[in-house]
Amino acid sequence: MNLHSSKTLNNGVKIPFLGLGVFQCNDGDETFNAVRWAIEAGYRHIDTAAAYGNEKSVGQAIHDSGINRDELFVTTKLWKEDMLQGTQMKAFEKSLKLLQLNYVDLYLIHWPVPGKTLESWKVLEDIFKSGRARAIGVSNFVQRHLDFLLQDAKIVPAVNQIQCHPYFTQQPLVAYCEKLGIACEAWSPLGGTGGNLLDDLVLKKIAEKHAKSVAQIVLGWDLQRGTITIPKSTHQKRIIANTDLYTFKLSKDDMKAINERNQDTRPYPIGWDPDHIDF
Ligand code: A2P
Repeated sequence: MNLHSSKTLNNGVKIPFLGLGVFQCNDGDETFNAVRWAIEAGYRHIDTAAAYGNEKSVGQAIHDSGINRDELFVTTKLWKEDMLQGTQMKAFEKSLKLLQLNYVDLYLIHWPVPGKTLESWKVLEDIFKSGRARAIGVSNFVQRHLDFLLQDAKIVPAVNQIQCHPYFTQQPLVAYCEKLGIACEAWSPLGGTGGNLLDDLVLKKIAEKHAKSVAQIVLGWDLQRGTITIPKSTHQKRIIANTDLYTFKLSKDDMKAINERNQDTRPYPIGWDPDHIDF
């Protein structure tokens, strides 16, 4: 495995296992620089969302990087308001415009919205058929939401992007998605801004053993588990460090010890539960 290793989605499209996430990156220099540094460091996968409010800077950084479009995997997401207002297609077109792209590689329903998910999925299916998204998927869907969607869907989601890290491993949902041929992507893989995952003493011990940082161990755990992972950072050093995941291998015991850190709850600071979320 290396920085360009990818997972093949259920429609044959390849997604790099490692991407840069830009949740909570301010539009402007902060996002522009993070994306620029990531591309310079070899990332070929950028994950944004309309709701992050930074698609413009993501698009500018991609444009200015001069990288060939087909070398980059870009994800964005449909926000709840546009599902409620029936403006899904308009929202997608706005995202494309802000990103300065003719197509995205992956377009996701950001959160399930009761009563609006099926209608929105049909729009995503149309977008996929038009070639303006190479793959479509969902985010923050629990098993119940997936079952509901699949009763009606013509296209099985390629991806379910979920909150996932050693304190919240979501193993049952990961296994369920695997059974359905849906790839899991981990958001907040490092436990999120303001979280305490990176101070975990068990993880620190494993990190010391491998002469790596806790962040690298956690991201390595994602990769060895087969999960796509999109750590966020606005610091160039960390963006680079988060790519150094291929010179160590976690043992079976390491993987077990990390899995056992699971607390099975959506931990602080981001406890949003898709079943009870009210933005
Ligand atoms: P920063 O942007 O200041 O680097 P997640 O991806 O789980 O949401 O976590 C992102 C948080 O972890 C951010 O607060 C980010 O802060 C921080 N972070 C990212 N990479 C590292 C790293 N290698 N070491 C320590 N903290 C990191």
